[in-house]
Amino acid sequence: MSGEGKVVCVTGASGYIASWLVKLLLDRGYTVHATIRSLDDPNKTQHLLALDGAKERLFLFEANLTVEGSFDSAVNGCVCVFHTASPVLLSVDDPQVQLLEPAVKGTLNVLKSAAKVQSLKRVVLTNDYRQGKEILEDGIYMFVDVRDVAIAHILAFEKQEANGRYCVVGNVIRSLEMVKIFDKLYPDLGYSLRYKDKSVERTPYCVSKVKAESLGVKFTPLEVSIKDTVESLKEKKFMNI
Ligand SMILES: NC(=O)c1ccc[n+]([C@@H]2O[C@H](COP(=O)([O-])OP(=O)(O)OC[C@H]3O[C@@H](n4cnc5c(N)ncnc54)[C@H](OP(=O)(O)O)[C@@H]3O)[C@@H](O)[C@H]2O)c1
Repeated sequence: MSGEGKVVCVTGASGYIASWLVKLLLDRGYTVHATIRSLDDPNKTQHLLALDGAKERLFLFEANLTVEGSFDSAVNGCVCVFHTASPVLLSVDDPQVQLLEPAVKGTLNVLKSAAKVQSLKRVVLTNDYRQGKEILEDGIYMFVDVRDVAIAHILAFEKQEANGRYCVVGNVIRSLEMVKIFDKLYPDLGYSLRYKDKSVERTPYCVSKVKAESLGVKFTPLEVSIKDTVESLKEKKFMNI
């Protein structure tokens, strides 16, 4: 296994992307130092502790982005820090104060802690270049499978030649195209009524996959991502269709 004997840190490990990252790192044999904002909440740790390999190779650390020195113990002895912790809030009164400032200050705190570690080879940062915009324009969305995002982080560490910024975007599509995929997969939902007389226009742009694919990322087809998401939501009883 590629990660055997190597210790890495994942910040914000209870998050959506980071939880997948922790899972895939454990699967590859890494020892993972996972930072959690508060270890008192079992909802933030249970799913991580239940992962294969967690008992032997997962170590939890409490760390807060806004506290300088908070990440010192978690990054100690690591060869890589995967920094994904960031305030992600659906509605904010003041984005500058509630999102931007803690994200920037937090990233600087993580980098300051990382700079003290001699064993460290690389820091992989998650970023959102859309600057918080979910919808680009005219119902155009960018999609990527969370598993592809997690593996891209790992490859950005494992590939010696990795460098700079990677855009990890699987598809840029119109919402109507998404509805059509839903309809094909789940025809009983009656989604076809919504686009009866409409044709899907091509999106005016796409995001190049070339650099991400050069890392070794193999993008999951959108249909597979949608199906797996719906089936997972059904299994966990978050969706009843
Ligand atoms: N999911 C997406 O569709 C998507 C797309 C593009 C980019 N991104 C970017 O990827 C990153 C992770 O996204 P995500 O979807 O995985 O978000 P998420 O599920 O909300 O995870 C964010 C993590 O950051 C932690 N965090 C927030 N504030 C913190 C603080 N002050 N101190 C320590 N930890 C803190 C959260 O801890 P708590 O659980 O304690 O709050 C959580 O574990 C973000 O930068 C996001 O902008 C996400």
